Amino acid sequence: MKIAVLAGDGIGPEIIAEAMKVLQALASDGLKLELEQAPFGGAGYDAHGDPLPEATLRLAKAADAVLCGAVGGPQYDVLPRAQRPEQGILRIRKELGLFANLRPAVLFPELVGASTLKPEIVSGLDVMIIRELTGDIYFGEPRGRRVNARQEREGFDTMLYSEPEIRRIARVGFTTAMKRGRKLCSVDKENVLETSRFWREVVTDVAKDYPQVTLTHMYVDNAAMQLVRAPKQFDVIVTGNMFGDILSDEASMLTGSIGMLPSASLDERSKGLYEPVHGSAPDIVGKNLANPLATILSLAMMLRYTFNQDEAAKRIEDAVKRVLAQGLRTADIQEGGARKVGTAEMGDAVLAEL
Ligand code: IPM
Ligand code: MG
Repeated sequence: MKIAVLAGDGIGPEIIAEAMKVLQALASDGLKLELEQAPFGGAGYDAHGDPLPEATLRLAKAADAVLCGAVGGPQYDVLPRAQRPEQGILRIRKELGLFANLRPAVLFPELVGASTLKPEIVSGLDVMIIRELTGDIYFGEPRGRRVNARQEREGFDTMLYSEPEIRRIARVGFTTAMKRGRKLCSVDKENVLETSRFWREVVTDVAKDYPQVTLTHMYVDNAAMQLVRAPKQFDVIVTGNMFGDILSDEASMLTGSIGMLPSASLDERSKGLYEPVHGSAPDIVGKNLANPLATILSLAMMLRYTFNQDEAAKRIEDAVKRVLAQGLRTADIQEGGARKVGTAEMGDAVLAEL
């Protein structure tokens, strides 16, 4: 199993260091792992003037899976768009064809008090958000700046989905729902957008191949509301790139902390890039405050989705659960009665439980 490790920026290197401990423990237990690190994001820009340096892309392409920390930092905000760290993550998604982004929002029972929502609203929550990741207004052309007929400057982007793009992400939605509660909610803005009307039409057509799955449709504004009103109504949500970006951040807060949430971005053959949902958190860099659990849980997703190592994945998840049950918490989790630990201590605790 060849894994490219791209720590990135901000707290990226700190949380990746903890995930590496877990990987090394699995390796010494017999998993055949090959790990190689490369600069990415702002670190890629600093080293090679490019957020996705050629050598990094080559390594990622040659690997079976990619583990990412986080990218971005205020010092890079002044750069032209092509050199910004975010461009590195967008390009690697596109270059590797990682069209299916799986973002589970699962509430660990131990953290029910940490959610900003009432316990009865969120306890037992287990929603899978499937976000299309290589299309939509993120990548649609044309885009840019121009001067209109009234001599006013304007900025514009293009929201666009092709039928094959919708079909393949819808299939991921349906097959995921088949393995879970068999309910799929497709989120769009069909009452306003032509792209969404087409999206809904195609998803409805794909549904014919999955008669056991109950398909519903929901407008994105309503979905945003329902996620905080009654989130347990959802099993699997499938949606486009931008709506998925927004809803997955919202869903993360239901679980108490965005510092807990892993993600997988998969291509057609389940090669994947795995990363925490949270960002580079420049405000807490170097303070031993970052929560490494989202990254460690991303490893579990990697073992499950790319390497079909369900048992090893479960070992990691169980270790995390036991550490939470012991009362250990990093600073991002606001909850009384817990023992506050730093990034490295949390990683070591997971390791001990492994
Ligand atoms: C995410 C992030 C990225 C996105 C940014 C960093 C480009 O917000 O992975 O959700 O918008 O996709
Ligand atoms: Mg986002």
